[in-house]
Amino acid sequence: MTLTVEPSDSSCGARVTGVDLSSDLSPALTEEIRAAWLEHKVVAFPDQGAMDDDALERFTEAMGGFGEDPFFAPIEGRQHIAAILREADEQTPLFAENWHSDWSFLAQPPAGTCLMAIDIPPIGGDTMFADQVAAFAALPEERKEYLRSLTAIHSAKLAYAPDGAYGEKDEGRSMAIRPGESALETQTHPLIRRHPETGKEAIFSTLGYIIGIEGMDQAEAIGLLGELALWQGRDEFVYRHRWEPGMVVMWDNRSVLHKATGGYEGHRRELHRTTIAAWAG
Ligand code: SIN
Repeated sequence: MTLTVEPSDSSCGARVTGVDLSSDLSPALTEEIRAAWLEHKVVAFPDQGAMDDDALERFTEAMGGFGEDPFFAPIEGRQHIAAILREADEQTPLFAENWHSDWSFLAQPPAGTCLMAIDIPPIGGDTMFADQVAAFAALPEERKEYLRSLTAIHSAKLAYAPDGAYGEKDEGRSMAIRPGESALETQTHPLIRRHPETGKEAIFSTLGYIIGIEGMDQAEAIGLLGELALWQGRDEFVYRHRWEPGMVVMWDNRSVLHKATGGYEGHRRELHRTTIAAWAG
């Protein structure tokens, strides 16, 4: 055991020290990191100042390989790294301010996401995480049984279609978002998914990327999803992550929702992001 793992005082999240992620990770250390990630759902590695884009790519490969990243243009010279970027004077609505699980509308949504700090504002810009294993576990048995019977319809249309939130009318954004007609496609997933590695059940994704429930009247489905969304984001399930320069964070999209927050007006914020492919077993 070489890592030091300090759990947050919230439902999920841990600070992990004792490793330089830019170094060659042995198979044993890779397993230890993955185990901490599966257990705590969000792991933050401070003081990773030696990390660069090459190291971020190597780390992502070690954690499970690259997932698909639709609707983002990668940063120059890289295929798999996107910049989560907001310039100091930017006026566009904040990116990713609603709870979501990354790219849940894909047939094979990514297992996880990595974010590497590039430019961290002195205040604000925290990332929030909501533990969806705990959110499901805390429901009454009867409600759990009902939710298990539902199939959610996912789509990127509200965000990435030409008329979506990041579509053609979204001007002045510094992030390289590429909306498109493919955002109109739909994909179904069980509303409650069993984690392929931990075996735990979690509520998968939320309003925004879920646009309906199979076989359910639309108004009823939106009502149910709205009510569920309030439950999913309750304080008792939430970990608020405060960024530090040189920090790398990795989360499990199968177990948590996340969202960005503001509060850093007048400051630049940039993180480099990769997604980890769906677990192949
Ligand atoms: C994201 O959803 O990938 C961005 C989160 C953040 O900017 O804090």
